[in-house]
Amino acid sequence: MKRLFLFLINNRCINQFWILIGKDNFVKKYQSNWAKLKYDESKSTQENVGFSHNKETQEAIDSVHKQLQASYLEHSNGNQVLDIGCGTGLYLVDFPDSAVLTGTDLSQELLKKAKNVVPKAKLLEGDFLSLNFDSNFDFIFSISVIEYVPPSKLNRLSQKVKLMLNAEGIVFIQYPHATTNEHLYYSDLSYVHYSPRKMEKAFVNSGFDIVSHVHSFDGRTLSGIKKDDKTYDPEKEKSFRNGAILIARKK
Ligand SMILES: C[S@@+](CC[C@H](N)C(=O)[O-])C[C@H]1O[C@@H](n2cnc3c(N)ncnc32)[C@H](O)[C@@H]1O
Repeated sequence: MKRLFLFLINNRCINQFWILIGKDNFVKKYQSNWAKLKYDESKSTQENVGFSHNKETQEAIDSVHKQLQASYLEHSNGNQVLDIGCGTGLYLVDFPDSAVLTGTDLSQELLKKAKNVVPKAKLLEGDFLSLNFDSNFDFIFSISVIEYVPPSKLNRLSQKVKLMLNAEGIVFIQYPHATTNEHLYYSDLSYVHYSPRKMEKAFVNSGFDIVSHVHSFDGRTLSGIKKDDKTYDPEKEKSFRNGAILIARKK
């Protein structure tokens, strides 16, 4: 019954209508609710945010950690760092001691764990789009979160990132990019695969220069393309290996 209900409210035809009238969040609400997540103590901090430790997932995750660290050292002009959707704080540990860390997340339970993982970080519970921050940042990043931002809010997100960055600040976004035509039609609003072209447009239109836009696992450039036909795990839509990293600088 629940499956039928979800199929009726979330499919590529009707989703165009929800997006058009700005109600795509309504569909998402019925499917993933991070705010109400119950932390499972029998699992690791990584499993609780949805990622296993199997070899292929771990390799892809390790590669994102490395790229995040390198990107901060290479591009950031300052030490004020914000993690949008920090979950259990697993990526906030990637920064040098001199960095001043802030994390935001919808889930109180995940943030409680993040406090143990990165005790020095300031952690704020709530939706990044509606949170108020005391000051601006030099480096804003987000890993595996954009898929939970509905299409009608993507531009709001890029605009808010711009607002919260200092001059020439950097944004680093890892997201599961579109690999099929179905994704381009938003066949599943509970887990959106944005096209690399759409992501670039959102940030360029909000006042960013693209620094780089590559496949997060093998480094191929994805700049300007609609979807990536070469996928590592075509059977597994939500594989961490089928992701992109967009790095952009505020103009
Ligand atoms: C798959 S988890 C990733 C957590 C962490 N970035 C990581 O990779 O370990 C997605 C996280 O995004 C958070 N999230 C989703 N939408 C958000 C929003 N609008 N504002 C803040 N956090 C959000 C969820 O609460 C969840 O913890």
